[in-house]
Amino acid sequence: MRILVTGGAGFIGANFVHTTHETMPEAEIIVLDKLTYAGNPKSIEGLERVQLVVGDIADADTVDPLVKDCDLVINFAAESHNDNSLADPSPFVRTNVEGTFQLLEAVRRHGTRFHHISTDEVYGDLALDEPRRFQPGDPYRPSSPYSSTKAASDMLVRAWVRSYKVPATISNCSNNYGPYQHIEKFIPRTITNLIDGVRPRLYGTGENVRDWIHVRDHNTAVWEIINKGRIGETYLIGADGEKNNLEVTRAILEAFGRDPDDFDLVADRPGHDRRYAIDNTKLIEETGWQPEFTDFAAGLADTVAWYRENEGWWRDAKAEVEAKYAKTGQ
Ligand code: NAD
Ligand code: DAU
Repeated sequence: MRILVTGGAGFIGANFVHTTHETMPEAEIIVLDKLTYAGNPKSIEGLERVQLVVGDIADADTVDPLVKDCDLVINFAAESHNDNSLADPSPFVRTNVEGTFQLLEAVRRHGTRFHHISTDEVYGDLALDEPRRFQPGDPYRPSSPYSSTKAASDMLVRAWVRSYKVPATISNCSNNYGPYQHIEKFIPRTITNLIDGVRPRLYGTGENVRDWIHVRDHNTAVWEIINKGRIGETYLIGADGEKNNLEVTRAILEAFGRDPDDFDLVADRPGHDRRYAIDNTKLIEETGWQPEFTDFAAGLADTVAWYRENEGWWRDAKAEVEAKYAKTGQ
């Protein structure tokens, strides 16, 4: 089996490549990745059945021959960071919308099975105190340039399934944590700040809620959907991991043996989504998937250990990331 993994040098894609390489000895994995600031070839080096092609999913001439030669395409490639999308939305439109369009056109030409990785942010946000969680059929109400381009990409996938019978599924996952995540994101930024002896930064009041899932649980769910999901369907992936940002910061401070109040409140993100929460009933009922990493403190401790042991992987990016945040007072 030949599998095309777009964005396979990024956080979730690289973890997907590792577990697929481990668990499917018959699989040949082709990674198509533009190696933007978020892609790191070191994340997938040394894997014998993995080939990295450096290129853009929005470039039809690059995409077509790769899709033609593969049995399955999984699209992880994206511009993925909300704060960056507020500063400059243009690469988000190009990669997330135009890139998904080019992949869809290629899988349409070649009749290839396609799985599209998306986000719970397409549904907008929930109030902090309402009992409701996101359902697969909820209306799309994205808030940010990032989430609106992801919503647009999902709409393209749905239309290509209906109009052209493209054999595609979509998954919308909640916030991931684990190894190989870029240090611009909340958990690895907080961990690497603490390694550097710098106080974590909490946006606004720290009350915003995210529904945390370990990246390996996200990826086992993706395989269940590829193997057992129904074509044209949307599946929500989440592991009942709701926590507010203050709780997460304090859990990381505890892992470092630091005082629970050892953080700074900083400028809020404009339009900051209040709460995400996933109802995973459909995924569990239709595929039987279950998360493995249900102990957040243990998953966090492993993640802290990974960043301590792999400083060479993230160190070069740290000063630039922090200089960018300093400009917005964050
Ligand atoms: P990431 O930013 O860590 O990685 C994205 C990868 O895509 C990078 O390797 C980058 O080089 C590559 N890329 C960017 N533009 C490209 C292009 N035009 N052509 C080819 N490659 C390109 O992102 P991530 O956190 O791993 O997210 C992967 C996917 O999962 C995204 O679609 C994101 O929307 C979705 N998602 C992420 C989370 C999360 O918590 N990180 C949660 C739910 C869904
Ligand atoms: O819900 C899924 C989404 O999760 C994915 O679609 C995105 O690709 C992924 O980046 C993530 O989006 P968030 O915006 O939720 O993640 P981020 O790590 O940027 O921020 C998590 C929360 O922490 C958010 O409420 C903002 C806050 N935050 C972030 C940083 C970087 C802080 O309080 N301090 C920080 O330093």
